[in-house]
Amino acid sequence: MTRPSHVTLYEVGPRDGLQAEKATVATADKIALIDRLSQTGLRFIEAASFVSPKWVPQMADASEVMAAIARQPYVTYPVLTPNLQGYTGAMMSHAQSVAIFASASETFSQKNINCSIRESLDRFKPVAEAARNDGTALRGYVSCVAFCPYEGRIAPAAVAEVAARLADLGCYEISLGDTIGRATPADTERVLEAVLKRVEAAKLAVHFHDTYGQALANILTSLDYGIATVDASVGGLGGCPYAPGASGNVATEDVLYMLDGMDIKTDVDIDKIIETAWFISDVLGRPPRSKTAVAQGR
Ligand code: HMG
Ligand code: MG
Repeated sequence: MTRPSHVTLYEVGPRDGLQAEKATVATADKIALIDRLSQTGLRFIEAASFVSPKWVPQMADASEVMAAIARQPYVTYPVLTPNLQGYTGAMMSHAQSVAIFASASETFSQKNINCSIRESLDRFKPVAEAARNDGTALRGYVSCVAFCPYEGRIAPAAVAEVAARLADLGCYEISLGDTIGRATPADTERVLEAVLKRVEAAKLAVHFHDTYGQALANILTSLDYGIATVDASVGGLGGCPYAPGASGNVATEDVLYMLDGMDIKTDVDIDKIIETAWFISDVLGRPPRSKTAVAQGR
């Protein structure tokens, strides 16, 4: 498979990035982050989660965020929805795209969404049906595609099965998540070999956390398998409250630096992303977690 000449960057900073922050981030700062990201050329900015505020307090202001952002016509602002209640909230906030999230690990599924993998897929059915009826785009995530914080190594066949089930539910795209950032390119190859037997590359995205510094290598490996959508988080924000040991997502500016250098088009302005990385890092009171933002400075 040849590498794609264009990659879609799917920004998850305002959602995956901020959900793991212990201190409450002001709603105004979340809105300012999304509004800045909207001016960078990004086409997808995952803005919030309509999940239980008891489980993820940081996302409790999802409706306020969705109501106040300055939506740009060329940007889609997807939100996470674990069940029909979340989907209803998302629709009241006029989300055009929602994401359901499953796991390839039974234990992580229980810890993250309080049900088994099978139960989660059953729970997603009415969400998928509603999305189909409403014309809402439906994305799917599979977590723990290589390792689970509780179970260790996960079988690629288990990942392929969940990915195929999400595709059957009508997801236009399935994002494969290395939730705790432990995969190496060898793991990525094994996972993609298995998943690509069930779901075509055009319907896949990759979502690497960067705990062990393997994310860019894994992305490069994924490009060689024809994957052309990459999830990333400005400033390397990120983590999952239910995945102990997970660090930030791969930084959007680090991915961009690599893709720009390889002459792979994204239509995203790296300087504006770096400015935004410094903006949100200042809000959080620490330097960006990316090599590129630190190297380039403000
Ligand atoms: P549960 O406790 O089993 O839910 O949680 P329930 O249906 O029994 O309801 C219990 C209470 O939650 C009720 O309220 C419901 O109204 C409320 P109460 O009567 O007690 O006051 N509730 C909700 N409130 C708002 N929005 C909702 C909602 N649903 C129920 N949608 C549940 C099950 C799925 C709700 C819970 O486990 C949950 O919200 N989990 C979300 C966890 C999460 O957001 N994790 C992070 C995102 S996943 C991730 O980061 C991985 C990813 O990045 C990819 C990767 O890196 O691998 C995507
Ligand atoms: Mg994640």
